[in-house]
Amino acid sequence: MMAKLLSGKLVSARVKEELKTEAAQLTAAGTQPGLAVVIVGDDPASKVYVANKEKACAELNFYSEKHALPADTTEAELLQLIDHLNHDPKIHGILVQLPLPPHLDDKIIINHILPEKDVDAFHPVNVGKIMIGDFDFVPCTPAGIMELIKESGVTVTGKECVVIGRSNIVGKPMSMLLLHQNGTVTICHSKTQNLKEVTRRADILVAAVGIPKFVTADMVKPGAVVIDVGMDRDENGKLCGDVDFAGVEPIAGAITPVPGGVGPMTIAMLMRNTLTAAKRAHQ
Ligand code: GUN
Repeated sequence: MMAKLLSGKLVSARVKEELKTEAAQLTAAGTQPGLAVVIVGDDPASKVYVANKEKACAELNFYSEKHALPADTTEAELLQLIDHLNHDPKIHGILVQLPLPPHLDDKIIINHILPEKDVDAFHPVNVGKIMIGDFDFVPCTPAGIMELIKESGVTVTGKECVVIGRSNIVGKPMSMLLLHQNGTVTICHSKTQNLKEVTRRADILVAAVGIPKFVTADMVKPGAVVIDVGMDRDENGKLCGDVDFAGVEPIAGAITPVPGGVGPMTIAMLMRNTLTAAKRAHQ
């Protein structure tokens, strides 16, 4: 049996259609959802991500603003822009694309975004809300993954869930979302001993390590749902994930492709958070 392919392209298109309808209703009622994306410097990958976010806003008829700042932008200048966006009623969501140039401190910048406009859910207030299970914004990549797991038909309750990676953007919030859905969650990382033994227990395996084709067939339980968060380059420079797709696909129960898996879901979830923020502002 071949694994079920969990297409983020298809699922995100469905989600975006729903969001577009809801956004049109909110716009007709007087509030057009608005997203401001801030990019500092010219990291090529960040430029692509930002362009995709703008494209999604256009598709869904959201208001959008892009603020592309030079690499030598000072902390004071960036904070001033965030202040302005915090107070702008047209803007419901503010996203500062990471990574920032090294002279800018992510924490200071993110802490300056009003929590109710922090559609990335990176502000400590929103991170804390996720921890206690009482949140408005779900971090975009983990939220998208939860949708793909739902698509697999597997319920999380009682399942062994293993997350490889402990980043603030993916690994940690992912673990919380799985826990909130009653999964038995293990977080693995670069210091984990006997990694293969742990990952082989997983009914749901999420790979967010940033190492090309790191997860091989011998690390996967037959029938597992395998989610690949990686956006890596293989030895030939070709885009690939953290999972050795060709090796793992024949034994997995369901698997996400790279590209076309988690990536498109992340953007759909950003749009969902922006709509949530706009709805709250409308009340
Ligand atoms: N850089 C990589 N992923 C993300 C993300 O989800 N949000 C932001 N703001 N920057 C990123």
